[in-house]
Amino acid sequence: STPLRLGIAGLGTVGVGVVKIVRQQAALLQARCGREITITAVSARTRDKDRGVNISQYAWEDDPVALATRDDVDVFIELMGGSDGPAKAATEAALKAGKDVVTANKAMLAIHGQLLAGLAEGNHRSLRYEAAVAGGIPIVKSLGEGLAANEITRVMGVMNGSCNYILTRMENAGLSYERVFDEANALGYLEADPELDVGGIDAAHKLAILSALAFGTQVDFDGVEIEGIGCIKIEDIRHAADMGYRIKLLGVAQMTGRGLEQRMAPCLVPATSALGQLEGGTNMVVIEGSDVGQIVLRGAGAGEGPTASAVMGDVCDIARGMRLPVFGQPADTLSSAPRASAAVP
Ligand code: NDP
Ligand code: HSE
Repeated sequence: STPLRLGIAGLGTVGVGVVKIVRQQAALLQARCGREITITAVSARTRDKDRGVNISQYAWEDDPVALATRDDVDVFIELMGGSDGPAKAATEAALKAGKDVVTANKAMLAIHGQLLAGLAEGNHRSLRYEAAVAGGIPIVKSLGEGLAANEITRVMGVMNGSCNYILTRMENAGLSYERVFDEANALGYLEADPELDVGGIDAAHKLAILSALAFGTQVDFDGVEIEGIGCIKIEDIRHAADMGYRIKLLGVAQMTGRGLEQRMAPCLVPATSALGQLEGGTNMVVIEGSDVGQIVLRGAGAGEGPTASAVMGDVCDIARGMRLPVFGQPADTLSSAPRASAAVP
């Protein structure tokens, strides 16, 4: 069989992780996917940058759109980030040019997911995004495939590792929010715009994507009620602990009699519960389904290895010829769910 040829735009934390897996796991990937996986071309902002991996054997494109539409690229891998700009332009170009796309870009999917799903399905292409939600945890696959026979009643969890790190560090070290925020920022844990993390926006992007998958609706990021962790004081954490609780930035999506409720906010959770015991940068997603009951998935929500692992899982599915509707059902059948908040008198 012919090799599956990848074009990677974005050679930062995740892009470099993908290059390493393609190289280091070449034999395993070929055995599992039934064909060789190769990289033909790459793109990033700066060509001459030491990235810790040798990329000299790959063709270079300054322009991600040019990369996405090359004849020798079968799968375009978007790892630049940003909801609009080059990420969206190149993803659209790739789908229109008949390429399959894999992305880790939750911001782009939360805002343009419906448009991109329509393009993918209209062009009979895959648009896969396992890495966009909860890093290495296979939550998209679980909801879209393994639990496909279930009516999902609720999805909830901790989906931003940076916020969980800040909250647990405040509690364990008795430090103020401001002090731990500065520490996390200096350690490079926070997004370039930290407000995406601490303002709950990044986690809300992920929740909006999961809601669409879980409830078969259009992605409705504007429908997520969002409250970040900036208001949490060390005293709040101490009072919670005195009552046997911990504070977590918790996302909850559920279909109620009043419509779809999506909420991302700091919440009290029992300290002895699975969510309450979640430490540091770890993520946890809890799914409740009509037949399966409750499932808890826990793991690394970010980082080079875990995120690249999720990207490559999607690549393997494409190599095996799997093509699934982007949000669990074709984009043109997805409807906007009524928002629960809109129905509140
Ligand atoms: P980085 O900031 O580490 O890397 C971004 C890469 O994109 C860099 O190589 C950069 O080039 C390149 N880039 C940025 N803008 C452009 C542009 N205009 N044209 C060409 N290349 C460009 O990001 P990450 O690897 O951390 O994240 C990538 C994606 O994965 C994002 O969508 C992120 O939200 C998502 N993600 C990241 C996770 C993580 O743990 N890091 C976890 C889950 C999802 P250069 O290197 O030359 O500056
Ligand atoms: N900023 C994100 C987090 C990265 O802290 O979880 C992974 O999406």
